[in-house]
Amino acid sequence: AALKPRISVIGTGYLGATHAAAMAELGFDVVGVDTDPAKVELLAGGRVPFFEPGLEELLARHLATGRLSFTTDLAEAVAMSDVHFVCVGTPQQATSHAADLRFVESAVAGIARALSHDGIVVGKSTVPVGTAARLRELLGALAPEGVSTELIWNPEFLREGKAVDDTLHPDRVVIGGASPAAERVMRQVYGQPIAEGAPFLAMGLTTAELVKVSANAFLATKISFINAIAELCTVADADVNALADAIGFDGRIGRRFLDAGLGFGGGCLPKDIRALMHRAAELGALEVVGLMEQVDEINMAQRQRVVDLALEACGGSVLNARIGVLGAAFKPLTDDVRDSPALNVAAALHLRGAQVTVFDPEAGETARRMFPTLSYADDTLTAVDGAHVVLLLTEWSEFLDADPEELGRRVRARTVVDARNKLDRERWTAAGWTVIGLGTGVTAPGAEPARARADALV
Ligand code: UDX
Repeated sequence: AALKPRISVIGTGYLGATHAAAMAELGFDVVGVDTDPAKVELLAGGRVPFFEPGLEELLARHLATGRLSFTTDLAEAVAMSDVHFVCVGTPQQATSHAADLRFVESAVAGIARALSHDGIVVGKSTVPVGTAARLRELLGALAPEGVSTELIWNPEFLREGKAVDDTLHPDRVVIGGASPAAERVMRQVYGQPIAEGAPFLAMGLTTAELVKVSANAFLATKISFINAIAELCTVADADVNALADAIGFDGRIGRRFLDAGLGFGGGCLPKDIRALMHRAAELGALEVVGLMEQVDEINMAQRQRVVDLALEACGGSVLNARIGVLGAAFKPLTDDVRDSPALNVAAALHLRGAQVTVFDPEAGETARRMFPTLSYADDTLTAVDGAHVVLLLTEWSEFLDADPEELGRRVRARTVVDARNKLDRERWTAAGWTVIGLGTGVTAPGAEPARARADALV
């Protein structure tokens, strides 16, 4: 059998830290590299600088086996490995929708200059189509003579909150632009048990880049589609949850990613569809631009809709109203607040003069750093104290399982905007709450749900 390749992972954010630990779990020697010494120190000490279920255990295990280490020294890491995964961020530029490619460029340049023996550079970051070809040129220009190297693309599809599981059990492995030799190495890297059962898909460089972007664009489109239908459900007195269940049984449609509500946020979907718009416009693929603009617009409108529902619940103005906000993270099981719809809504209401108090089981600290002017509570009950209206903005199970009776005793008015359409309405209305959904109508205590009324007419 071929010698086991040693692995370096450049960039230790959600993607890189998880990938590094997962590769160690598969039995490889892995060194993780980051320019941030504080991050490296934490990781080397077995601590993950963000909340990601299961990652700290995996990290600790392989720091102990000695297969995993971390350094700020890129050259040293490159010298001791054969396959170099590029996992650095490609954030949205401050002044446009375009992706900022500085970090991938400097990572590849850094690897190229440090190469002392043959090796493969594997891009995992999400990049605009065409980037990999440019990076390939950069690698070729900077790699020392006599060293054989190639750059291939291997997009990553992991979700935050499920990163470990997604990395160890991917739906598919995509490899772009690999020579037969590089493909053999990648099959070895993703061999048992990862690729067992998961299709291994080899394709061209540009196709692999586009696979990642298209997957995210489709997911975003699915969410905005159901949110557009939710608007229709609201005016037609229908229930988008029941509708999604029913259309979701069609195998061609599928129920996943059809949860209507506050819409998508986070470090990926919003920036990826904007980067796609930008790149598609550059290349003249204008239908894509129009479609993605609509998806983005529908998504952002959901945030405004929740602000409007809060205003309405407070009688037209939220000036001095107390608003209890449940959730700050862009989704449950993460402490990530990048482009978080929840914080966006909280901040908008704060700007209109409301006294907003936010609680999130994990994201309180990161939220406080990014939105220091909002008030934060340490638990659900304190967050809703004296509230004129409660907003459920991130569907943590802790909120869904909360006792509506107990919450009810703390608020001024038992009105909740369920912006994720996830509350058990029977339980909440039985406790005297009026529940307002997005495309699922309003249910008042004692009243028949709107849907039951409409159905009775048929
Ligand atoms: C996403 C992709 O799922 C992943 O494959 C890719 O690698 C990175 O981007 P992530 O950003 O971690 O992952 O979150 P995801 O679970 O996809 O959720 C994205 C957003 O969509 C969240 O804000 C979530 O609340 C929202 N969402 C999701 C909905 O509003 N409705 C749904 O039905 C599903």
